[in-house]
Amino acid sequence: TPRVFSGIKPSGGLTLGNYLGAIKRFVGMQGQMETIYCVVDMHAITVWQDPKELANMTREVAAGYLAAGLDPSQSILFNQSQVAAHAELGWIFNCVARVGWMNRMTQFKDKAGSNAEKVSLGLYAYPALMAADILLYHATHVPVGEDQKQHVELTRDIAAKFNHDFKNDFFPLTEPVIEGPAMRIMNLRDGTKKMSKSGESDMERINMTDDADKIAKKFKKAKTDPEPLPETVEGLKDRPEARNLVEIYAALNDMTPEAVIAEYPGAGWGTFKPALADLAVAKLAPISDEMARFMADPAEIDRILGEGAEKARAIANPILRDCYDIVGLLRS
Ligand code: TYM
Repeated sequence: TPRVFSGIKPSGGLTLGNYLGAIKRFVGMQGQMETIYCVVDMHAITVWQDPKELANMTREVAAGYLAAGLDPSQSILFNQSQVAAHAELGWIFNCVARVGWMNRMTQFKDKAGSNAEKVSLGLYAYPALMAADILLYHATHVPVGEDQKQHVELTRDIAAKFNHDFKNDFFPLTEPVIEGPAMRIMNLRDGTKKMSKSGESDMERINMTDDADKIAKKFKKAKTDPEPLPETVEGLKDRPEARNLVEIYAALNDMTPEAVIAEYPGAGWGTFKPALADLAVAKLAPISDEMARFMADPAEIDRILGEGAEKARAIANPILRDCYDIVGLLRS
């Protein structure tokens, strides 16, 4: 049976990249298949997090899920650390995955940089825990942005090796679901870098909690080349900043980039940027208002996550138990 699993790290505020690359698509899959969405707090601590902030950020990601339209009666919503099976299967996968596989992970190389000796062992093993998140539910579909593609492919490698070493066909080979115009939203100040929670300047990203003035200011100051929009999408080739703004418009308004260009052929930035800012405010303001409403009642968020964790354990624990038996870990 098809089953969706995905997650977001509570390591900073949610960005427009998280919304368009992940949350908006999570909502689209709800009701189509069984959907499980996690706040991956154990992934967040692969880099030091202030403990008080971590609990708050966990609630904020959950509030983002709820505000965007995820419904706890239709999707399982929970935070990872409340379901111990993630860590337990993660350990087994640490013993299945090969060091050489981890060495090929581009995100690790980017994050560790020249400092690879000093980062946590958890950051290195991160993709094995991510594989556990997915395979613990025998998930078949994993909606993620482009930057997570390699990790989902590694998940397939781990599943295949586990099946080969222990039991044929035990874990499904998971498909990354990477489709639509917004799979890699770029930094507003540098069209060659991804928009991320942790970039140094706030002007690089749109946060889900930014107000209308901030959103308008950030798009107005967004870096572009001096040329106006092209007459056809082919003209966006080799224009990363222009393409990014067109793709953001397209994704926010459920259009193709072709349709956006057809609506604004040859438009100058003085026309397109304010239109984009208005659209972003119209789409994001209702969500950020809802987020604030949820954040005003943290006990309710905690209750929803606790209930979701219970439902998650009901699926995960039997699969973990089978896995322990298959590996030969004794239970008495
Ligand atoms: P994270 O928390 O960095 O990002 C969460 C989701 O948002 C997407 N995303 C983007 N999409 C488009 N453009 C961007 N600029 C952008 N920035 C972020 C990410 O691709 C992701 O889908 N390792 C994962 C979390 C994770 C996970 C999982 C995901 C842990 N276990 C199991 C799926 C399944 C991460 O760090 O995502």
